[in-house]
Amino acid sequence: MEESWKLFYTFGILVFGLAAQWAAVKSDGGSLSCGFPAIYNFGDSNSDTGGISAAFTELPPPNGETFFGHPAGRACDGRLIIDFIAENLQLPYLSAYLDSVGTNFRHGANFATGGSSIRSPGYSPFNLGVQISQFIQFKARTTALYNQLSLSRRIPLTISSLPRPAEFSQALYTFDIGQNDLAHGFQVTTENQVRASIPNIIGQLSQAIHLLYKEGARFFWIHNTGPLGCLPYNVLYDKSKPGNLDKNGCVKPLNAVAMEFNRQLKDKISRLKTQLPFAKFTYVDVYSAKYALISSAKTLGYVDPVNFCCGSFYGYQINCGKKAIVNGTVYGNPCNHPSRHISWDGIHYSQAANMWVADRILNGSLSDPPVPIQDACHHQRNM
Ligand SMILES: *[C@@H]1O[C@H](CO)[C@@H](O)[C@H](O)[C@H]1NC(C)=O
Ligand SMILES: *[C@@H]1O[C@H](CO)[C@@H](O)[C@H](O)[C@H]1NC(C)=O
Repeated sequence: MEESWKLFYTFGILVFGLAAQWAAVKSDGGSLSCGFPAIYNFGDSNSDTGGISAAFTELPPPNGETFFGHPAGRACDGRLIIDFIAENLQLPYLSAYLDSVGTNFRHGANFATGGSSIRSPGYSPFNLGVQISQFIQFKARTTALYNQLSLSRRIPLTISSLPRPAEFSQALYTFDIGQNDLAHGFQVTTENQVRASIPNIIGQLSQAIHLLYKEGARFFWIHNTGPLGCLPYNVLYDKSKPGNLDKNGCVKPLNAVAMEFNRQLKDKISRLKTQLPFAKFTYVDVYSAKYALISSAKTLGYVDPVNFCCGSFYGYQINCGKKAIVNGTVYGNPCNHPSRHISWDGIHYSQAANMWVADRILNGSLSDPPVPIQDACHHQRNM
């Protein structure tokens, strides 16, 4: 008797709880907790959906072969983590700000470009400071245009590809940048100099976030940097030094510096939380997801993580999408099964790897605070 009452009581609370939660979700007007209407992304080739390709030379096939069926501005056979973020938030894939063909900015824009670093000099003219000033210009000009068009007697169709001005402060601002600051640093200076430069690099990222906050940005989703020393390109150039590789075949000093960068990034973000009281920050440990993937490559059915699908650094160096015959050997033939490779081209991850990583980071299990991306506005979810 008493037992069944208890059961009823517990069950009743559960049903009531679910109903309350459902009501809370419904009141947002959608099925997603925060209902982010847009994404504004800043970064490098890890999240470039067409910027550098539009600005300079189009990335050639077989980039894009697995998912888009043609080159799609991404250094990948298919989708990037930022594409899985868009899918998860039920938003369209982001158009690159620098792309002038067929773009739609109704639900955000992508300022990330291949080669970008936080600081100059680096590999690309579009460092983070430039990306932020592009965003500020984008916001000002789309707002003016939107307001002007919405006054027209017959509202022109072009308005449908513009962001709603009011949505800039409700959007999710995502970052994946810093890898090229470290890579460029290692290329032109010593390990100690790279380490010494980290506070300044992180300081510039912090300034960029302050500028966005001044523009009304409130929700920040910030990826830390991946294990630089596990990129096949770096392994090939650094493996000759004895004792340089760890048990998973990654270059130890490069990863140690990447981890130090991440430690300081996390620290800076906790300080930003107190400096910018109306903002919500989510720090995302992409490093751990990528490293876990590489260290369990064999169990998961991938080929040796040092192998990559497209292009060649062995014997003869050739970029993905090009081919050469040297002394009767063909270099640059892409592999037949990109989904069995973690690395697409020696520097960038394959779609299969990006999907695996996205599966691990988007549910919040590697985030601080540990909230799924749909809750990155940190509204209370369950009680
Ligand atoms: C091609 O052959 C030449 C002459 O034997 C040699 O010097 C060169 O290193 C070879 N190139 C490659 C990429 O194997
Ligand atoms: C997140 O997803 C991963 C991979 O599917 C899973 O192992 C993990 O338990 C999930 N974590 C949470 C908090 O849901």
